[in-house]
Amino acid sequence: MRDHSQMSFVLSLILVSVSIQLSASDPSKTNWLLNVLLPPIGPEDANFKHSEVPPLVIVPGHVGNRLEAKLDKPAVVHWLCMKKSNYYFTLWLNLNMFLPIGIDCWIDNIRLVYNRTTRRSSNSPGVEIRVPGFGKTYSVEYLDPFKLAGYLHTLVQFLVNTGYVRDDTVRAAPYDWRVAAYEQEEYFDKLKQLIEEMYTAHNKPVYLLGHSMGNLYILYFLKEQSQEWKDKFINGLISLGAPWGGTVKSLAVLASGDNYGLALDLMKIRQQQRTTTTNPWLLPTSQAWPADHVFISTPSYNYTYKDYRKFFTDIGYEDGWFKWQHSKRFLTDLPPPGVELYCMYGTEVLTPMTYVYDENFPSNQPVQIIYGGGDNTVNKRSLSLCEQWKDQQKQKIHVIELRNKHHFDTIYDIDALQMIQDILLGNYSEH
Ligand SMILES: *[C@@H]1O[C@H](CO)[C@@H](O)[C@H](O)[C@H]1NC(C)=O
Ligand SMILES: *[C@@H]1O[C@H](CO)[C@@H](O)[C@H](O)[C@H]1NC(C)=O
Ligand SMILES: *[C@@H]1O[C@H](CO)[C@@H](O)[C@H](O)[C@H]1NC(C)=O
Repeated sequence: MRDHSQMSFVLSLILVSVSIQLSASDPSKTNWLLNVLLPPIGPEDANFKHSEVPPLVIVPGHVGNRLEAKLDKPAVVHWLCMKKSNYYFTLWLNLNMFLPIGIDCWIDNIRLVYNRTTRRSSNSPGVEIRVPGFGKTYSVEYLDPFKLAGYLHTLVQFLVNTGYVRDDTVRAAPYDWRVAAYEQEEYFDKLKQLIEEMYTAHNKPVYLLGHSMGNLYILYFLKEQSQEWKDKFINGLISLGAPWGGTVKSLAVLASGDNYGLALDLMKIRQQQRTTTTNPWLLPTSQAWPADHVFISTPSYNYTYKDYRKFFTDIGYEDGWFKWQHSKRFLTDLPPPGVELYCMYGTEVLTPMTYVYDENFPSNQPVQIIYGGGDNTVNKRSLSLCEQWKDQQKQKIHVIELRNKHHFDTIYDIDALQMIQDILLGNYSEH
């Protein structure tokens, strides 16, 4: 299922479904996959180059880098699924997931198995998964080898135009985004090594830049480092659209699935989304929301953050409760980063804050969505939690609100990119 004619067939399928969805759906549906399938064209011409740029490490968001798999499976879910491969192939983003049987094979390869005793996730039996391109940028620039789905390409190209050099002064730290930070010791060791290596090579402290969930990995990483280490190696953190207090959307994803606005079977994709430990990690926190705020409303119950146990039981996903229990501490504590922070996010865009379901909960989609402020994906209450660190650390916290900008505008929009450049070149001022 891998030759070019098939690929372009699949691509046209996707584009057809994208345009159907675009015309039919509300603005909240225009989410990340649409953005990456139809990215804006970035500036490709280098103009004036700066030679003394500070080194930069980028940590992408959820589903924001490639994953590769190699198979030697004891069993497959359909006879058409590949059972054994002698090589690693791209599992994310893999266009076979848009084919009727392809999606079943894909889910059985990408799913994780959770062990409640060890609180660890492992791959589906007979599947080896690796993250390609650590320390390079290609795996976050485009999510597929055919360069159809452009994610951080616009941002990286913009930086290259100002004088950055790919895989030298700008590097990325992709990770297995199925797995929450508490299971990522090995990744954090590699990240630390990468930062120290860049510090040594360029004789300058390193900037970190995260998009979306990537910022939670950065924060988790910084929590583990001594202040002395941070003072020496880190120049600052630029956080773009960070869900510091989780997202309400993650509850809807776990309840009824998220097909990324495409023609994917919701109940199937939900099955995959429930196997990760990242989705339960991102539940909205008590830091961000009042105790009586209803996230999910059904004819029989109104769920607030005090009702997560019942929520997981009612949606038939007990593992989710264990996963959340194990991971919630970090986001409710929300330790200050201990480095200078540029906390950038979009605001004043309609963002779901309550999902209303009918009696078919959780197997049907919500019948109504109540919106509040935010960047369309993350609620303002969550994005703006970085404010509180102003009193908790001596390093500066700059809160930069981008009005009317969406979650993905922070990495695509020219104003945001310009601001990132100003910060990196030491040319940023509050006014
Ligand atoms: C979970 O891990 C424990 C300890 O390694 C092991 O004894 C147990 O069999 C595992 N459970 C499952 C369901 O694999
Ligand atoms: C849920 O909250 C709404 C709005 O406050 C209320 O009208 C409804 O009766 C509540 N439902 C239940 C089951 O408590
Ligand atoms: C920095 O800002 C100043 C004043 O706004 C401007 O004149 C200068 O060109 C900028 N420098 C860079 C490197 O962008």
